[in-house]
Amino acid sequence: MLEFLPRVVPESPGKPEDSNLAHPMRKVTRDIAVDEHMWSDEVCENVKSLFNQLAPTWSQRTHSMKFEPLEDAFERGLKSIDQDMICLEVASGTGLVTPLLKKRFKTVVSFDISKEMLINAPKDGSTKLLADSARIPIKSKTIDVAVLVNAFLFPKELCRTLKKNGYVVFISTLSDRTPIYLPPQEVFDLLPGDWEGYSSEADWGCWTALRQK
Ligand SMILES: C[S@@+](CC[C@H](N)C(=O)[O-])C[C@H]1O[C@@H](n2cnc3c(N)ncnc32)[C@H](O)[C@@H]1O
Repeated sequence: MLEFLPRVVPESPGKPEDSNLAHPMRKVTRDIAVDEHMWSDEVCENVKSLFNQLAPTWSQRTHSMKFEPLEDAFERGLKSIDQDMICLEVASGTGLVTPLLKKRFKTVVSFDISKEMLINAPKDGSTKLLADSARIPIKSKTIDVAVLVNAFLFPKELCRTLKKNGYVVFISTLSDRTPIYLPPQEVFDLLPGDWEGYSSEADWGCWTALRQK
Protein backbone atom coordinates (compact mmCIF):
# COMPACT_ATOMS: atom_id res chain seq x y z
CA MET A 1 0.00 0.00 0.00
CA LEU A 2 1.12 3.57 -0.70
CA GLU A 3 0.36 5.93 2.15
CA PHE A 4 0.21 9.67 1.50
CA LEU A 5 1.66 11.64 4.40
CA PRO A 6 0.72 15.26 5.09
CA ARG A 7 3.26 17.85 4.09
CA VAL A 8 5.61 19.05 6.84
CA VAL A 9 8.01 21.13 4.73
CA PRO A 10 6.08 24.20 3.51
CA GLU A 11 6.30 25.42 -0.06
CA SER A 12 8.70 28.35 -0.18
CA PRO A 13 7.84 31.34 -2.37
CA GLY A 14 9.15 31.67 -5.90
CA LYS A 15 8.27 28.29 -7.38
CA PRO A 16 8.77 28.70 -11.13
CA GLU A 17 5.47 29.62 -12.72
CA ASP A 18 6.21 28.17 -16.13
CA SER A 19 4.19 25.03 -16.41
CA ASN A 20 5.85 21.92 -17.76
CA LEU A 21 2.58 20.04 -17.89
CA ALA A 22 2.88 19.65 -21.66
CA HIS A 23 6.65 19.17 -21.71
CA PRO A 24 7.69 16.62 -24.38
CA MET A 25 9.68 14.69 -21.74
CA ARG A 26 6.39 13.87 -20.03
CA LYS A 27 5.34 11.51 -22.76
CA VAL A 28 8.76 9.91 -23.07
CA THR A 29 8.85 9.36 -19.30
CA ARG A 30 5.50 7.62 -19.22
CA ASP A 31 6.01 5.67 -22.45
CA ILE A 32 9.24 4.06 -21.31
CA ALA A 33 8.04 3.41 -17.76
CA VAL A 34 5.07 1.51 -19.15
CA ASP A 35 6.95 -0.25 -21.95
CA GLU A 36 10.75 -0.28 -22.01
CA HIS A 37 10.69 -1.08 -25.73
CA MET A 38 9.69 2.53 -26.30
CA TRP A 39 13.31 3.35 -25.40
CA SER A 40 14.44 2.99 -29.00
CA ASP A 41 17.93 3.83 -30.23
CA GLU A 42 16.53 7.01 -31.71
CA VAL A 43 14.88 8.17 -28.47
CA CYS A 44 18.01 7.26 -26.55
CA GLU A 45 20.26 9.27 -28.91
CA ASN A 46 17.93 12.29 -28.76
CA VAL A 47 17.83 12.25 -24.95
CA LYS A 48 21.59 11.80 -24.73
CA SER A 49 22.25 14.64 -27.12
CA LEU A 50 19.81 16.95 -25.29
CA PHE A 51 21.44 16.34 -21.91
CA ASN A 52 24.95 16.56 -23.34
CA GLN A 53 24.05 20.07 -24.50
CA LEU A 54 22.52 21.03 -21.15
CA ALA A 55 25.41 19.60 -19.13
CA PRO A 56 27.82 22.60 -19.03
CA THR A 57 25.24 24.79 -17.27
CA TRP A 58 23.26 22.07 -15.46
CA SER A 59 24.77 22.81 -12.05
CA GLN A 60 23.58 26.42 -12.28
CA ARG A 61 19.94 25.28 -12.39
CA THR A 62 19.58 25.43 -8.65
CA HIS A 63 16.21 27.23 -8.84
CA SER A 64 14.51 23.97 -9.73
CA MET A 65 16.87 21.77 -7.76
CA LYS A 66 15.73 22.01 -4.19
CA PHE A 67 16.88 19.26 -1.91
CA GLU A 68 14.07 19.26 0.67
CA PRO A 69 12.06 16.45 -0.98
CA LEU A 70 15.04 14.10 -0.83
CA GLU A 71 15.81 15.00 2.78
CA ASP A 72 12.15 14.63 3.76
CA ALA A 73 11.95 11.26 1.99
CA PHE A 74 14.90 10.03 4.04
CA GLU A 75 13.53 11.46 7.28
CA ARG A 76 9.97 10.21 7.00
CA GLY A 77 9.79 7.72 4.17
CA LEU A 78 12.63 5.31 4.76
CA LYS A 79 12.67 3.02 7.73
CA SER A 80 15.65 0.87 8.72
CA ILE A 81 18.23 2.62 6.58
CA ASP A 82 21.84 2.30 7.61
CA GLN A 83 25.08 3.69 6.25
CA ASP A 84 26.43 0.29 5.21
CA MET A 85 23.67 -0.09 2.65
CA ILE A 86 24.65 0.26 -1.00
CA CYS A 87 23.01 3.20 -2.73
CA LEU A 88 22.52 3.46 -6.49
CA GLU A 89 22.01 6.97 -7.81
CA VAL A 90 20.18 6.66 -11.11
CA ALA A 91 20.74 9.41 -13.70
CA SER A 92 23.02 11.45 -11.47
CA GLY A 93 23.57 14.31 -13.93
CA THR A 94 26.31 16.63 -12.68
CA GLY A 95 26.14 15.13 -9.20
CA LEU A 96 24.08 17.82 -7.47
CA VAL A 97 22.50 15.26 -5.17
CA THR A 98 25.47 12.94 -4.73
CA PRO A 99 26.88 14.70 -1.62
CA LEU A 100 23.54 14.26 0.17
CA LEU A 101 23.61 10.55 -0.56
CA LYS A 102 27.24 10.25 0.51
CA LYS A 103 26.28 11.74 3.87
CA ARG A 104 23.91 8.83 4.39
CA PHE A 105 25.71 5.89 2.76
CA LYS A 106 29.34 4.81 2.69
CA THR A 107 28.89 3.37 -0.79
CA VAL A 108 27.13 5.37 -3.48
CA VAL A 109 27.32 4.31 -7.11
CA SER A 110 26.12 7.05 -9.45
CA PHE A 111 25.51 6.69 -13.14
CA ASP A 112 24.25 8.70 -16.07
CA ILE A 113 23.86 8.18 -19.79
CA SER A 114 25.33 11.58 -20.64
CA LYS A 115 29.10 11.69 -20.81
CA GLU A 116 29.02 15.49 -20.64
CA MET A 117 26.98 15.40 -17.42
CA LEU A 118 29.59 13.14 -15.84
CA ILE A 119 32.45 15.32 -17.14
CA ASN A 120 30.80 18.35 -15.54
CA ALA A 121 30.37 16.62 -12.17
CA PRO A 122 32.90 17.43 -9.42
CA LYS A 123 35.96 15.19 -9.29
CA ASP A 124 35.24 14.07 -5.76
CA GLY A 125 36.47 10.51 -6.01
CA SER A 126 32.98 9.05 -5.96
CA THR A 127 32.04 6.14 -8.21
CA LYS A 128 30.47 7.33 -11.45
CA LEU A 129 29.51 5.15 -14.37
CA LEU A 130 28.53 6.01 -17.91
CA ALA A 131 25.48 3.79 -18.26
CA ASP A 132 21.89 3.53 -19.43
CA SER A 133 19.07 2.93 -16.91
CA ALA A 134 17.60 0.51 -19.44
CA ARG A 135 20.69 -1.73 -19.06
CA ILE A 136 22.30 -1.06 -15.71
CA PRO A 137 25.77 -2.66 -15.65
CA ILE A 138 25.30 -3.99 -12.13
CA LYS A 139 24.69 -7.54 -10.96
CA SER A 140 21.19 -8.54 -9.96
CA LYS A 141 20.18 -8.16 -6.30
CA THR A 142 23.15 -6.06 -5.20
CA ILE A 143 21.56 -2.68 -4.41
CA ASP A 144 19.82 -1.73 -1.17
CA VAL A 145 18.52 1.72 -2.06
CA ALA A 146 17.95 3.16 -5.54
CA VAL A 147 17.49 6.93 -5.70
CA LEU A 148 16.02 8.67 -8.74
CA VAL A 149 15.84 12.46 -8.81
CA ASN A 150 13.98 13.75 -11.87
CA ALA A 151 14.96 10.55 -13.63
CA PHE A 152 13.38 8.08 -16.03
CA LEU A 153 12.03 4.94 -14.43
CA PHE A 154 12.67 1.58 -16.08
CA PRO A 155 10.75 -0.48 -13.52
CA LYS A 156 11.85 -4.03 -14.38
CA GLU A 157 15.50 -3.23 -14.91
CA LEU A 158 15.70 -1.15 -11.74
CA CYS A 159 14.10 -3.90 -9.66
CA ARG A 160 16.51 -6.45 -11.10
CA THR A 161 19.39 -4.67 -9.37
CA LEU A 162 17.64 -4.48 -5.99
CA LYS A 163 18.14 -6.86 -3.10
CA LYS A 164 15.09 -8.41 -1.50
CA ASN A 165 13.40 -5.71 0.60
CA GLY A 166 15.29 -3.02 -1.32
CA TYR A 167 14.11 0.56 -1.50
CA VAL A 168 13.22 2.87 -4.37
CA VAL A 169 13.17 6.61 -3.74
CA PHE A 170 11.60 8.62 -6.55
CA ILE A 171 11.87 12.41 -6.35
CA SER A 172 10.28 15.09 -8.50
CA THR A 173 11.80 18.40 -7.42
CA LEU A 174 9.03 20.49 -9.02
CA SER A 175 6.23 18.00 -8.28
CA ASP A 176 3.93 17.73 -11.29
CA ARG A 177 5.80 20.53 -13.05
CA THR A 178 8.93 18.45 -13.31
CA PRO A 179 9.53 17.64 -16.99
CA ILE A 180 10.57 14.05 -16.19
CA TYR A 181 7.63 13.25 -13.95
CA LEU A 182 5.43 10.36 -12.87
CA PRO A 183 2.74 10.70 -10.21
CA PRO A 184 3.59 8.82 -6.97
CA GLN A 185 0.72 6.36 -7.37
CA GLU A 186 1.93 5.53 -10.87
CA VAL A 187 5.46 4.87 -9.61
CA PHE A 188 3.98 2.51 -7.03
CA ASP A 189 1.75 0.76 -9.58
CA LEU A 190 4.48 0.37 -12.21
CA LEU A 191 7.05 -1.38 -10.03
CA PRO A 192 6.76 -5.15 -10.43
CA GLY A 193 6.05 -7.16 -7.29
CA ASP A 194 4.73 -6.14 -3.90
CA TRP A 195 5.65 -2.77 -2.45
CA GLU A 196 4.77 -0.62 0.51
CA GLY A 197 5.72 2.91 1.38
CA TYR A 198 5.00 6.57 1.66
CA SER A 199 4.68 9.67 -0.44
CA SER A 200 4.49 13.33 0.41
CA GLU A 201 5.17 16.83 -0.81
CA ALA A 202 8.06 18.93 0.44
CA ASP A 203 8.82 22.49 -0.56
CA TRP A 204 8.41 22.64 -4.35
CA GLY A 205 8.67 18.90 -4.89
CA CYS A 206 7.27 15.54 -4.01
CA TRP A 207 8.75 12.19 -3.08
CA THR A 208 7.82 8.53 -3.03
CA ALA A 209 9.79 6.07 -0.90
CA LEU A 210 8.94 2.41 -1.39
CA ARG A 211 10.17 -0.85 0.05
CA GLN A 212 9.78 -4.19 -1.63
CA LYS A 213 7.82 -6.63 0.55
C1 LIG B 1 16.53 16.02 -15.34
S1 LIG B 1 18.17 15.39 -15.32
C2 LIG B 1 18.41 15.00 -13.60
C3 LIG B 1 19.85 14.86 -13.23
C4 LIG B 1 20.10 14.75 -11.73
N1 LIG B 1 19.42 13.62 -11.15
C5 LIG B 1 19.68 16.03 -11.06
O1 LIG B 1 18.63 15.99 -10.40
O2 LIG B 1 20.37 17.03 -11.21
C6 LIG B 1 17.96 13.82 -16.05
C7 LIG B 1 19.23 13.04 -16.20
O3 LIG B 1 18.90 11.75 -16.69
C8 LIG B 1 19.94 11.34 -17.55
N2 LIG B 1 19.39 10.25 -18.36
C9 LIG B 1 18.44 10.33 -19.31
N3 LIG B 1 18.17 9.10 -19.77
C10 LIG B 1 18.94 8.24 -19.09
C11 LIG B 1 19.12 6.82 -19.12
N4 LIG B 1 18.41 6.05 -19.94
N5 LIG B 1 20.01 6.28 -18.30
C12 LIG B 1 20.75 7.05 -17.45
N6 LIG B 1 20.63 8.38 -17.39
C13 LIG B 1 19.73 8.97 -18.19
C14 LIG B 1 20.29 12.60 -18.29
O4 LIG B 1 21.53 12.53 -18.93
C15 LIG B 1 20.23 13.62 -17.17
O5 LIG B 1 21.47 13.75 -16.54
